[in-house]
Amino acid sequence: MPSEFAAIIEVGARDGLQNEKQFVPTEAKIRFIQLLKEAGFKEMELTSFVSAKWVPQMQDAKEIVKAFSDDKRNIVLTPNEKGMMAARELNCEAMAVFVGVSNTFNQKNINKTTTESVEQLRPLILKQKQDDLFIRACISTSFYCPYEGKIDEKDTIALCEQFVEAGVDELSVADTIGMANPREVYSLFTKLKDAFPHILLTAHFHDTRGMALANIYAALEAEVYRFDSSAGGLGGCPFAKGATGNVATEDVIFMLHQMGVETGINLDKVVEAVTFIEPYISRKIESKYFNLKAFTKI
Ligand code: HMG
Ligand code: MG
Repeated sequence: MPSEFAAIIEVGARDGLQNEKQFVPTEAKIRFIQLLKEAGFKEMELTSFVSAKWVPQMQDAKEIVKAFSDDKRNIVLTPNEKGMMAARELNCEAMAVFVGVSNTFNQKNINKTTTESVEQLRPLILKQKQDDLFIRACISTSFYCPYEGKIDEKDTIALCEQFVEAGVDELSVADTIGMANPREVYSLFTKLKDAFPHILLTAHFHDTRGMALANIYAALEAEVYRFDSSAGGLGGCPFAKGATGNVATEDVIFMLHQMGVETGINLDKVVEAVTFIEPYISRKIESKYFNLKAFTKI
């Protein structure tokens, strides 16, 4: 393995919580994020500036951002100018925009076609880059769409190219509904690495069918060393039918550390954060490492 370090971008407070029907109190979200920061994450998605009607769980975005205003690397998700302006007012310096390769998914998620989304976002990204903000583009349904089925990798690469041309710093390429297999992952990420050698390339896997760890290994083989994951395996997009949680941070870190790939993250501290948030979560925590911890100590 050429690199012995992988960066983990913790998305539990955003992707992890956005699909929870029961509102998680703002104070609990803040404590959860604090514990995750203590675990050592340098890059985290904290929340999203989206419509409270569409995603009520994220209605406290401003309070969350204010609670961590000293850390300029915090990432907030935003689909449009309104969200970007709100984030800028709170001095956020890192933003994630999100667009689906699949038109049908994009319409269900942000009420626009993919083309309309790109056209709307391009000048906004340019403006943020002029002010030297960090912009990450999350590319949803990069492999499969719950409504359109298999996505042609050429379409994913073409959409990524539009964001690279718009000036983003990072592409987070997502298997939104956990359908991709390791060969598809290796193929797409190898091509993306070749096409965009100077862009930060991140893999974002949901674990709906238990293939996420295998897909992370396939991405590593394609020399991708950045992974989004969610503490406790929480998460899922409310507008992607059948989507379940992100790959669990604990499971990713355990696998990487066992393979000798460092992450700089304290696994026990991640477990502490999941233990804290578990009572606020309406479904069972799926993370294998979390569920085993009571029985096994290595
Ligand atoms: P719309 O109804 O077409 O837009 O929604 P609108 O402009 O008519 O706005 C509707 C209302 O939302 C208005 O409020 C706006 O002011 C407000 P009202 O006047 O009715 O009281 N609004 C906002 N409020 C706060 N922040 C904003 C904002 N924009 C408008 N930024 C819209 C369009 C994009 C707003 C809506 O569709 C939306 O919020 N969608 C968000 C969907 C979402 O959050 N999905 C999950 C995140 S993506 C994801 O999880 C995938 C990812 O993990 C990768 C992967 O796994 O694939 C990243
Ligand atoms: Mg996601």
